[in-house]
Amino acid sequence: MLKIINDSNPRLRERSLPVNIPLTTEEQTLAKAMLDYLKHSQDEEYAAKHNLQSGVGLAAPQVGVLKRIIALYYPKADSDQVVELALANPRIVASSLRECYISGGEGCLSVPVVHPGRVYRPWKVTVEAYDIINKKNIKLVLRGYDAIVIQHEIDHLNGVLYYDHIDPERALEDDPSVVVV
Ligand code: NI
Repeated sequence: MLKIINDSNPRLRERSLPVNIPLTTEEQTLAKAMLDYLKHSQDEEYAAKHNLQSGVGLAAPQVGVLKRIIALYYPKADSDQVVELALANPRIVASSLRECYISGGEGCLSVPVVHPGRVYRPWKVTVEAYDIINKKNIKLVLRGYDAIVIQHEIDHLNGVLYYDHIDPERALEDDPSVVVV
């Protein structure tokens, strides 16, 4: 099973390198293992047995590999659909001025200590990437929670952690244009 490194490891502060397309077998295996890790982490019995924290997204640097690969896996709110993505070289090509944040704050498999506070992010982003599962380039338009998750994971590829975004002074404001997710 993959081993997650935490934020005491300087590797998480480095910038990951783009991957060449098509991916090597090793890179494909890694992406699949990242998705499997997330699925397992959401299986209560399995997670309890292996002492896993539940996660919805994972970036390759979190398993010590400095390559631009991310995985997302979670049930979509208010639907029976599941978001399942393994992406190489994801990049944000457009983002809204409108912002949002998760009311309970963000969490991260690599951050054992909870850092309370609002993480403001663009509410809507357009992301271009190589879809590892379907082996093609894709463009995604994501809003709200979906936009937050992918921005959090892309941050990892740039050595950024969610708590870097927390501004204690701004948390005191209550801006009505900001969407609470
Ligand atoms: Ni994270």
